[in-house]
Amino acid sequence: MIAFREEPAAILARLRTLREADAPTHGGHVLSYVYDPDDERIDALAAEAMRIAQPVNWLDPMTFPSAAAVERDVLGFVRGLLHGGEDVVGTLTTGGTESCLLAVKAARDAWLRAHDAVPGAARPRLVAPTTVHAAFQKGADYLGLELDLVPVGPDGRVPAERIADRLASSDDVALVVVSAPSYPFASLDPVVEVAAITAAAGVPLHVDACVGGLVLPFWPELPAWDFRVPGVTSMSADLHKYGYAPKGVSVLLQRGRDRQRHQFFATTRWPGYPVVNPTILGSRSTAAAAAAWAIIQALGEEGYRERAGVARRATDAIRAAVEGIDGLRIVGAPVGPMLAAATDEMVPVGRRVDPHRWTDAVHRRGFAIQQQPSMPQPDGSRLPGTAHLTVTPVTARVLDELLPALADAADEVRGVPRASAEALLGALPPMAGPIDSDTAGALLAAIGIGGGRLPDDQASLLAGIEALPSQLAERLLIEMVGRIAEPAQA
Ligand SMILES: Cc1ncc(COP(=O)(O)O)c(C=O)c1O
Repeated sequence: MIAFREEPAAILARLRTLREADAPTHGGHVLSYVYDPDDERIDALAAEAMRIAQPVNWLDPMTFPSAAAVERDVLGFVRGLLHGGEDVVGTLTTGGTESCLLAVKAARDAWLRAHDAVPGAARPRLVAPTTVHAAFQKGADYLGLELDLVPVGPDGRVPAERIADRLASSDDVALVVVSAPSYPFASLDPVVEVAAITAAAGVPLHVDACVGGLVLPFWPELPAWDFRVPGVTSMSADLHKYGYAPKGVSVLLQRGRDRQRHQFFATTRWPGYPVVNPTILGSRSTAAAAAAWAIIQALGEEGYRERAGVARRATDAIRAAVEGIDGLRIVGAPVGPMLAAATDEMVPVGRRVDPHRWTDAVHRRGFAIQQQPSMPQPDGSRLPGTAHLTVTPVTARVLDELLPALADAADEVRGVPRASAEALLGALPPMAGPIDSDTAGALLAAIGIGGGRLPDDQASLLAGIEALPSQLAERLLIEMVGRIAEPAQA
């Protein structure tokens, strides 16, 4: 046996050291990215399931029937939760973004087929509220659809009649998407009303329940938002969020086999093995799917219901706490275990709390909360800048620490004006047109962002994102992230 260059224990110790720089994935101090069920047994079970499934290649579920068996079981469970009947079929994907992309691809190809068109020759439209997840912007971008974003109301929900207006005048809409709930504000779009409109127009409707799909089934008193609504033609639901599985697994369900088959890619026109891929990847791992399968076996519906109940009580406590903070308000009527807080413009300026200043101050008290920029809508109205909290069962354990931190942080920054983007804008030379990587790198350096580290004062960064033309802000963000993983100098 050829000797390793280094002992496995030493290699893994180095990996553990690298992990020490990460935000804590467990324990409730990071209120985004991670979905901690507060149960070590779930992690242990998932790890063992991943280990067992590790060598499997899902590329061919006939050679590896365990992949298909896992997929069937998981799809059956999620279809049941979302009230899909036997006409609903599905696919496991690697995450929410892939589920969303495939929903767009299937709808685009169905539309092209119906209109006897080919990709590129026609650009069908994707209609969705401005709050729809960015994955749909990506889908429209990758797949050549015209993105038609519809302004939402002050509560973050899209008024159904605005969707009706979009559909009234044309036959180029390939897909309408609404969210259950939306990520930015946890707003539940009016699925029943929108579905009545899309069904009458013969347009498919995707309900993006990536974040809500495994938790809203256990939320009380919601209007129908899933396959119970006849006009809903597809849904996405992520197991790596409130399904508590490791990253890399989501569900895309489609009403009707023929609709779903547009998702697939197959070719016999090359000299290699016949290719048939239901998702974007070719070779793919079943590890995360196997972990999701194992967690579902362990928890069942009841286990998910209990954990949703814990997250709900924690969400209620946080909501009450934020509502009690002078200068902040909750945006709209959030549904599910998330909420967004914005400045309360009804109080005098000196009592207002800027959500981004607040988030920085909460961070100094040991909790990471996401900052979301303010954004203009196509009708000229403006969505507020917000702080976003994703609540999971583990949050209940840290409420005694978190709630005072939220209140103290607000006391610290109350009356402090929003961060100014002037310094950042002042550092930028006048520019026109696209910029190259060196220029973007120099601009980042000029504003003090480099080496993969964000400034502690993220409120200023958000102010910059809000103030810069979005194409330039996006280009600088690409540069920032592109540089993080560049190979180190030898
Ligand atoms: C509503 C919604 N859709 C899609 C996504 C994208 O999911 P992912 O990050 O797994 O690609 C998210 C992620 O937060 C989401 O909340």
